Amino acid sequence: MYTYIVFYSRYGNTALMADAVAEGVRSVDGMEAELAYVRDNFTPQEIIDGDPGWKDSKEKLEAKYPAFELDTMKNADALIMGSPTRFGNMAAPLKNVWDTAAGLWFEGALIDKIGAVFTCTASLHGGQETTPLTMYMPMIHQGMLIAGVPYSEQNLLTTTGGGTPYGATAVVGAEADQPPDETELAIARTLGERVARLTAALRGS
Ligand SMILES: Cc1cc2nc3c(=O)[nH]c(=O)nc-3n(C[C@H](O)[C@H](O)[C@H](O)COP(=O)(O)O)c2cc1C
Repeated sequence: MYTYIVFYSRYGNTALMADAVAEGVRSVDGMEAELAYVRDNFTPQEIIDGDPGWKDSKEKLEAKYPAFELDTMKNADALIMGSPTRFGNMAAPLKNVWDTAAGLWFEGALIDKIGAVFTCTASLHGGQETTPLTMYMPMIHQGMLIAGVPYSEQNLLTTTGGGTPYGATAVVGAEADQPPDETELAIARTLGERVARLTAALRGS
């Protein structure tokens, strides 16, 4: 069984969250984590080249993570999606994943599979809650079962940064130069572990 962790990231913070989610998934016996970094096929290269941090991060992420594949999503036992926040919503590459998934909806390929989400924002009130909620919408249309983070994860009660019951989150600063802290990563691991545990129970292993 495997959980597909599908994410986009411009400066690498969401990728760090993806790694923590994967750690949580792999902590459950019999559950693999497959990661996919969704390529940005929208932004003209000259814009990316004009931002050295973006260019450098893009090259590193493309070298480290496999590209997204629709078939891998179709065959996954669970799906966890991660995106940097864009105006309180997911980024275009992630939205495009859903825009290519009408066939999966038609087949009912994701019905009754567990879905969960994670995000990064620049600021504390810039989408920590709205982005997870808006990321749920396509999952609900696909018939998925949504898993948030329960308050048995004690860090939810004390975090002064990211971390919400709606999904794992991190606040990474206006320059995206404050990577997820240990509290935010711990909540991300909890989310991954929960999805894997629920999936094993639901799908019988
Ligand atoms: C077009 C655009 C829109 C953004 N919208 C928001 C926003 O609504 N709220 C917020 O806190 N940060 C916003 N940000 C900042 C990003 O969310 C932040 O840089 C990102 O989470 C960093 O993650 P990454 O390192 O994985 O790229 C925006 C950034 C861009 C480029």
